[in-house]
Order: sequence, then C-alpha cells, then structure tokens
Amino acid sequence: MQIQLDHVFYSYGKQRRNKPLPEPLVLADLELMVERGEMLAVAGKSGSGKSTFLQLIKGFLAPSKGSLLLDGTDPRLNRKSERFDRVGFIFQYPEHQLFSTTVFDDIAFGLRSAKLSPEVVEARVHQAMQAVGLDYEQFKDRSPFELSGGEKRRVAIAGVVVLEPEVMILDEPTAGLDLQSRTALFELLHAMNREQGITVIWVSHQLEEILAHANRMIALQAGRFIADGPPSILLSDPRLLDAFGWEEPPALVVTRLLREYGIVREDRPLTSEEAAEAIIRYRQAKPLTEASR
Ligand SMILES: Nc1ncnc2c1ncn2[C@@H]1O[C@H](COP(=O)(O)OP(=O)(O)OP(=O)(O)O)[C@@H](O)[C@H]1O
Ligand SMILES: [Mg+2]
Repeated sequence: MQIQLDHVFYSYGKQRRNKPLPEPLVLADLELMVERGEMLAVAGKSGSGKSTFLQLIKGFLAPSKGSLLLDGTDPRLNRKSERFDRVGFIFQYPEHQLFSTTVFDDIAFGLRSAKLSPEVVEARVHQAMQAVGLDYEQFKDRSPFELSGGEKRRVAIAGVVVLEPEVMILDEPTAGLDLQSRTALFELLHAMNREQGITVIWVSHQLEEILAHANRMIALQAGRFIADGPPSILLSDPRLLDAFGWEEPPALVVTRLLREYGIVREDRPLTSEEAAEAIIRYRQAKPLTEASR
C-alpha cells in the first residue's frame, strides 16, 4: 500500500468553520510518500507529534487540513474505510488494545468478525502466536490482563498479524522489552517485510535500533518533518544530532573513523564483526612498526 500525506495539518482543538485552525498545531504541513515495503522509523522528542502522526495513517484521527491518501485515494470516500482495515496498529501502551477474557479470544477477535470457520480461526491464531513467540497451549486460555508487559505486547501484535495487514504501524514497540524479545520482534517484522512486502512504520527513541532496522527515517520536531533519508546518513549529520541532542551511534563512529584512517571504504555502517575483521586484515597487511606501537 502506498501512503501519501499532502500538506497535512492537525490540531486537537475544536475546529470552527471559516476560522484558522486552533492552536497549538500538533502537526504542520506534512508532506510524505511512503512506498510499499519500506521500513520507516519515526524519531523525535517527546511531544513532537509522533503518535498523532501514526494515528492519522490508521484513520483514528482525520487531518484538520490537507489530505491523507492510501493507494492514491482518500480512504474516507469509502464509507467502510476498507483501506484503513489493511493497516495494522500497535498502540504505544498495548494494554489499551486488549479486552477479551482469554488470549485466544483477543487474537481471534478480528477474524471472528470476518466470519471464518472455527478451524480456520484456530489455525490462524495458532500461527500468529507462534510468529510472536507465544506458546499456544501455555497462553491461549490465560487472561491477557494477567500477563507481563512484554507478553501483552506480543498478544496485541499477534492480534494484528493474524489479520494479514499490508502496513504495520507500531508506536514504540520495543519500550520495556528485553533484548531477546526486541530481537524476536524485529525478526518477525523483517520476515513480514521481506516475504510479503509489508510496510513497517514504527516510532523509536533508540538510534541503534533505527540504524539496524530502518531503510529510511523521518525526524519530527514540533510537528514538522525536519529530516527524511537513510539513517546512516542522517545519524552522522552533526546538525541533526545537535538539534535532537543525540549522540552519533557507536557503529557509525567506528565506521567513520575506520574510513578516515583509510582502513575501510564502505559508507554503510559496519557491524562490530565487520569492523573487527577490517582492523585485523589491516594489521596483518601492515604490521605495527616499533615507532607506531
Ligand atoms: N488527545 C489529545 N488532546 C490534546 N492534546 C493532545 C492529545 N494527544 C496529544 N496531544 C498533544 O499533542 C502533542 C503531540 O503529542 P503526541 O502524543 O503525538 O507526541 P509524541 O511525539 O508521540 O510523544 P511521546 O514521545 O511522548 O509519545 C503534545 O503536545 C500532546 O500534549
Ligand atoms: Mg507517542
């Protein structure tokens, strides 16, 4: 699905006819085109409008001015807004989207309203739970409210994955998850992205995570996009780092220094293994002299 924002403005205030939009403008003059299959990270300080922006794409909020187009058309022209149904949404606080008495019912909810047979529903719930790393037998009958934060988030994600969306939107999906769950979540998102061409849009405050997983990032400041491009370029730009008070991610620092010393030529960020190998190769070709030791 292609997502386009055309001069989008948003204000939470009550709008009056023929009056200017009420202040404050939470989003101002957003222009964006996201093509199918992108892995797009959204960064910005707290209060910069990231969650508001995501909710516009899902259709939970409508632009106060300007337009949102999905596959080139305004999804609101269709009464049932079917295109919004193709967008999966994981809230910043996953407990906000859990409501059933069992994990199974919660995940199956969207499928049941699609009137599928019980066998198909069970098979798909099973598969979705497996995809997010929740053991079917162990979790299916438990109450979603008695789970840990990370488990709740996985139930919420399974409830979206099971509907086979074209776009996955996740608001700070890794906040509060341990390393293993974070790795598993991104493995799942990359697999969906690679195998089904699903677009992934997520909010993150973790620059290392953006660098490792996004092919594009946009940075929001006070409701405006102030940068849009490949993370390895944006996150080594001192002006942008300064604007956000960010530190250049270590992987970029290492790659930049290795390049400055003529040890590597790549401008993409190297993994720590690649950097170590490059240094060893360099040392073997150019052993330390007494003077440089
Ligand atoms: N329901 C609401 N009613 C009024 N103002 C709101 C509402 N939700 C958010 N805002 C305001 O809109 C601005 C942007 O909020 P938003 O939640 O989009 O920021 P964010 O970038 O997601 O922040 P965070 O990183 O803290 O999640 C903030 O100033 C916030 O106070
Ligand atoms: Mg937010």
